[in-house]
Amino acid sequence: MPEEKNSQPKEKEESTTEVLLSEDTLYNAPELFARNARASDFEALYRRAEADPEGFWADFASELPWKKKWKKVLDDSKKPFYSWFAGGKTNLYTAAVERHQATAVKDKAAFIWEGENGDTRTITYGQLHETVNKFSAGLRSLNLNKGDRVAIYMPNIPEVAVAMLACVKMGIVHSVVYAGFSAQAIQKRVEDAEAKVIITTDGSFRRGKTLSLKEVVDQALSAGCPSIQHSIIVQHAKNPVTMKEGRDLWYHELIAQDLPVPDTEVMDSEDPAFILYTSGTTGTPKGVVHSHGGYMVGVYTTLKLVFDLRESDVYWCTADPGWITGHSYIVYGPLMNGVTSLLFEGVPDYPKTDRIWEMVERHHVTILYTAPTLIRMMAKYGEAGVKAHDLSCLRLLGSVGEPINPKAWLWYYEHVGNKRCPIMDTWWQTETGMFMICPLPPVPLKAGSAYKPFPGIIADVVDKTGKSVPPGKGGFLVIKNSWPAQLKTLFRNPQRYLETYFEKIPGVYLTGDMARRDKDGYFWIQGRSDDVLKIAGHRLSNAEIESAIVSHPAVSEAGVIGKPDPVKGEVAKAFVILKSGFAPSPELSQEIRQHIRKTIGPLAVTDEVVFVSKLPKTRSGKIMRRVLRAQELGEDPGDTSTLED
Ligand code: WT7
Repeated sequence: MPEEKNSQPKEKEESTTEVLLSEDTLYNAPELFARNARASDFEALYRRAEADPEGFWADFASELPWKKKWKKVLDDSKKPFYSWFAGGKTNLYTAAVERHQATAVKDKAAFIWEGENGDTRTITYGQLHETVNKFSAGLRSLNLNKGDRVAIYMPNIPEVAVAMLACVKMGIVHSVVYAGFSAQAIQKRVEDAEAKVIITTDGSFRRGKTLSLKEVVDQALSAGCPSIQHSIIVQHAKNPVTMKEGRDLWYHELIAQDLPVPDTEVMDSEDPAFILYTSGTTGTPKGVVHSHGGYMVGVYTTLKLVFDLRESDVYWCTADPGWITGHSYIVYGPLMNGVTSLLFEGVPDYPKTDRIWEMVERHHVTILYTAPTLIRMMAKYGEAGVKAHDLSCLRLLGSVGEPINPKAWLWYYEHVGNKRCPIMDTWWQTETGMFMICPLPPVPLKAGSAYKPFPGIIADVVDKTGKSVPPGKGGFLVIKNSWPAQLKTLFRNPQRYLETYFEKIPGVYLTGDMARRDKDGYFWIQGRSDDVLKIAGHRLSNAEIESAIVSHPAVSEAGVIGKPDPVKGEVAKAFVILKSGFAPSPELSQEIRQHIRKTIGPLAVTDEVVFVSKLPKTRSGKIMRRVLRAQELGEDPGDTSTLED
């Protein structure tokens, strides 16, 4: 993700996208996609899904391999614990990699990897399968079995996919922790999942520096993580590391042994495939659980249709495997669809600010799927970098992670897509596993709107009693039916699953976002309604940052709010009360910012730490962030009757 310190972006150049058009202006009128022979089929998809959603999903499920066919597409008898393809037996690994071994896809590139230093590697579907088999044999030799948990803390290299796939093949539940998180964050997640093994690398490269990921893992292991029996280390950066005898194993030694390859585990459709921790409104992250069967059908179908995948596509999703976007749309989705994806270790603007465009041109990328924060950063660098490259290979563009403002949308449309490429703004979440509100390529688009629900999904905008609000009015974004890749539960915490998503507004799935629908039924996502921050598209909670701050010895209390930022979308601002004996100073403010970085990770960008003598609280002592925010941004604080002072 972009960091501010590198090459200073220049002043923004004058752009034609300065002129904001009315929100009703339509882009990408259907004739733009007329050359797409499948365009007319899309209408039929919406109709089919509306008339028979279960039949719609079953059609796509049939394109994937099943050891035993399901008895029922959707079983809602234990609502909101839904079952998809109940009775079916399959394995997400078979769908992603194994099934291609009998076809021409076997010799096709699954991944084209590029390192920060420009090294490249191509891994075919056949080679991927071979490596996964070897690694799964290695995992079995460590006595790992179906149902065990394994943590993964790695940079964007092919081995991260190998590690995930080998786990899934064996029915081992993986938990990937984003490599921008700290030792403490790893420890929390490893302990909650009781992972037996953690897989990492000797290092990773970022803006020319080598980061020692193993060192961070070692810190986590020496602080706790009693369930960990082994760490497996992939040699990547050739960075010197200390190996702990008996505990630490080299990946290359593990796969070099001639061990029997374990059979792919036959999983129930509903069995868990992985856990991914995500921030909620408290300081404790939630372990979102995804299954084999439903997840695989939802992710396969959405990627295939939304990006209208073709045999010859070179698809590039710039996300990191540590987030759900990486799981669904770098690893599992593209593999299930047999496309070639580009995997990039570095950042898009290093060593030069046009690295991303240079790569699109050189690799002939046809589909680029990225985040608004990156688009805004590129727009700030100016048009010259984009114009210097031939981007005519691009066919479709995508956006994800946070609302895309019309100005950034238009810049992307004009300068990257050259007004030829439709933009698929995909709204979804770790919990939904798959795209939920997004266009299909031929529909008319509006700059900044994520269009309408994907076929088979029923979304609504409601007030706090659950009543639909009229067009033009803002409200809570909810989903009214179940979808195949819906999270199963929160790991070992079904109660929190119910409370977070289904009890505040009964009968629907509460997304945590605010939205508005316009007169044409287009959805405009407005951002979170709860205490969750989106910093450069990364999800963090106010409470997590506050708890990091109060763990500093000088701090007594802290309140954190999200503040709009022109590039990152949002950054944190902290209001801090010091303990007696500590005096406010710029140095202390800087030290607290560093402390947040160390405690959570560099992704927790806190723009400002200011010292105050009092924080607005309720009579029961809860900090009212809403009031802090209103003061900061000059907004209406809303109901303040519970404010103590
Ligand atoms: C939250 C989910 C979905 C994968 C990456 C983030 C925001 C996501 C959009 C979009 C407006 C978006 C929402 C959502 N969000 N995509 N296209 N337009 N907002 O997954 O970390 O679980 O975050 O990201 O606020 O609730 P996540």
